[in-house]
Amino acid sequence: MSNLMSNYSPLDVTFVKGDGCWLTDSNGVEYLDALSGIGVVNLGHCHPTITKQLVDQSQKLLHTSNVYRIENQEELARELCNLANMDKVFFSNSGAEANEAAIKIARLYARSKNIENPVIITASQSFHGRTMATLSATGQAKVQAGFSPLMSEFIHVKYDDLEGIQQLKGNKDIVAVMVEPIQGEAGVIIPKSDYLNKVQEICKKNDWLLILDGVQSCMGRTGKLFAHEHNDITPDVLCLAKGLGNGVPIGACLAKGVASEMLTPGTHGSTFGGNPLVTAAALGVLDVFQNTDVLDNVNQMSAYFKSEFDKHLSNNPAVKEIRIKGLMIGIGLDSDKVDCTQLVKKALQDKLLINVTGTSIRMLPPLIISKKEIDTLIGKLVTLIGN
Ligand SMILES: Cc1ncc(COP(=O)(O)O)c(C=O)c1O
Repeated sequence: MSNLMSNYSPLDVTFVKGDGCWLTDSNGVEYLDALSGIGVVNLGHCHPTITKQLVDQSQKLLHTSNVYRIENQEELARELCNLANMDKVFFSNSGAEANEAAIKIARLYARSKNIENPVIITASQSFHGRTMATLSATGQAKVQAGFSPLMSEFIHVKYDDLEGIQQLKGNKDIVAVMVEPIQGEAGVIIPKSDYLNKVQEICKKNDWLLILDGVQSCMGRTGKLFAHEHNDITPDVLCLAKGLGNGVPIGACLAKGVASEMLTPGTHGSTFGGNPLVTAAALGVLDVFQNTDVLDNVNQMSAYFKSEFDKHLSNNPAVKEIRIKGLMIGIGLDSDKVDCTQLVKKALQDKLLINVTGTSIRMLPPLIISKKEIDTLIGKLVTLIGN
């Protein structure tokens, strides 16, 4: 009997070591990691630059407090703002907390416009986190079940559909639209290529903030550092986490223009947020993105995945659809032909780590994956899906 609360149901395997795309379990057996800790260890396990940053920083100083200035934090904020064309950053410890900051910014923005009961538009099937505000924002009943009363300020509209948003134009309480550039937890749902541009146009016309939840789709995952760079837009608020620390808990809420002026002394905070250790890791992450060819690798390996999928999976009757942007991959399956509930366990038996959401396999392999590793992965997938 474990003393852990029962909110997780972990698979019966313990990993003790990681290297690049590979994890080793407590029996010394190696697994190919096509999930990167759910899009966290984007640069691979134990990336030497991140390890060095952590070792060096831990020998100097782990934590002080946001009561004092933190050099790494200021440097990271400067670099992130330069790279994302944003103005200011609040550092959190997770994706949900970055989104919480965004929601608080939207509320203060509402106050500035004398809106008493602000409403934020979010999308059905979205995922924004597990705190009360972010699970209320989330468009999935299974995440909300049991937790009512929910925060009432979120209106959910269909994802990748402008109609639902357009219809709310007359609602004077709306202050923001919050969407994922690509929906991750929904099974990798990629919207039309101009969806975000159109959403931004509507936001601009109506004086609403555009909040992008890039927690899963940013940090190189789609072949650009930030997913919305494919659309050539700058949101008002951008939330990051997961790959930002490559394994250490850090999130960030970036804001531009009026949105960046909303948080004032005493309105928000975090004990750990942006401490010297985690910001050292994130500085290492940005260094790797800027000084290596990791983004080129994402684009090349994405193309390779596509051609290999075409060769080995596209004619498989159990495969309905393959969705891929960079190294964010969803494979929609026919649940009459494959028992999707067994796939994660079966893959684990074959030493492959994947995730399944509903009837889709989701893969978020490390961005440093090689052709040879993709060949191994696809061989295992073909066996797994069968038919
Ligand atoms: C798009 C998105 N937003 C927010 C979150 C929540 O992040 P965290 O689990 O770090 O709180 C996730 C996690 O999967 C996510 O995918």
